Amino acid sequence: MLGERLRAQPARWLVTGSAGFIGSHLVQTLLGHGQTVVGLDNFATGHRRNVDEVRSLVTPGQWLRHRFVEADIRDLDACREACREIDFVLHQAALGSVPRSLANPVATNSTNVDGFLNMLVAARDAGVRRFVYAASSSTYGDHQALPKVEERIGRPLSPYAVSKLVNELYADVFARCYEFPSIGLRYFNVFGPRQDPEGAYAAVIPRWTRAMLLGEEVTINGDGESSRDFCYIDNAVQANLLAATSDEPAAVNQVYNVAVDGRTALNRLFEILRDALAEFRPEVGDVQAVHREFRVGDVRHSQADIGKARRLLGYRPSHRLEEGVRAAMPWYVSRFAVADEVS
Ligand SMILES: NC(=O)c1ccc[n+]([C@@H]2O[C@H](COP(=O)([O-])OP(=O)(O)OC[C@H]3O[C@@H](n4cnc5c(N)ncnc54)[C@H](O)[C@@H]3O)[C@@H](O)[C@H]2O)c1
Repeated sequence: MLGERLRAQPARWLVTGSAGFIGSHLVQTLLGHGQTVVGLDNFATGHRRNVDEVRSLVTPGQWLRHRFVEADIRDLDACREACREIDFVLHQAALGSVPRSLANPVATNSTNVDGFLNMLVAARDAGVRRFVYAASSSTYGDHQALPKVEERIGRPLSPYAVSKLVNELYADVFARCYEFPSIGLRYFNVFGPRQDPEGAYAAVIPRWTRAMLLGEEVTINGDGESSRDFCYIDNAVQANLLAATSDEPAAVNQVYNVAVDGRTALNRLFEILRDALAEFRPEVGDVQAVHREFRVGDVRHSQADIGKARRLLGYRPSHRLEEGVRAAMPWYVSRFAVADEVS
């Protein structure tokens, strides 16, 4: 139905962070539904191979509706240029990762706050119809209650969390001062194909999957009973498209949790990943994880109440954790099969 809604009204979209994990899936889905898409990225953490992979997954005709701009959102003129004649902005570009922000808060602030403000100003001045942006579950900070509901947040636990909270504050002020329409999506641990498994700041699912496939040690921070609401990429894409196209006035100028409303401990996640991988590589079935100390800045438990997104956007997550893991594993297996042959 969402696809039909899109195809009935072709529009021009700007996806920032389009060479990254979530952005590249947004571009792929939009092109698949006949939309015209400008993708923008500076390759800070994204990769050209993600853009190439999207190209290989859409038809040549769909690809003709795509233009990639290598640019930095810290450059206001570049943001203005990218927003020209755009109907919908899906703003994903940011420096993710709590530990990265602890190591270099200035870099995180510069892209996630200055860059975000540039995008808001550029989108406002270009008169875009709606600005949907990547917020974060980190905004719940030290608030203990579960499940998380949008209006109750605690104090941020990292510079990254501050930057994502500031995004929401700016979006809210732009709504009130300039009547600028936006929607923030608080993603909870999104995972899926193309999520980067490399580097010190890789997220847990790609990091562990890579380690198991390459026969490296899998380390769990803390006792492994910390829990998260893991959200498959298709759910996040659905939320973006609903947020951009909803014609319900009450749905606009709001923030929404984007997750599944499930809670999985890291120890259990490890077993789920290991069992899914063992279907491709039986030797992985015996792998055991090693526990390390807790990481600064991490929240202990996280689980989303997704009732608001259900009610106001019509959001219905299509994949629970196990289904998402099954859908994502072939990508990781083939990615590291190639790595094995090359190395
Ligand atoms: N993946 C998750 O679980 C998760 C959870 C909460 C929030 N988010 C947010 O979702 C968004 C997308 O995250 P992702 O997981 O796809 O990460 P990602 O690192 O794969 O994608 C981010 C993209 O932004 C680009 N980028 C960074 N700085 C830029 C700049 N100055 N100018 C232009 N492009 C720039 C990067 O090169 C990268 O391609 C981010 O805003 C992130 O904070 C993600």
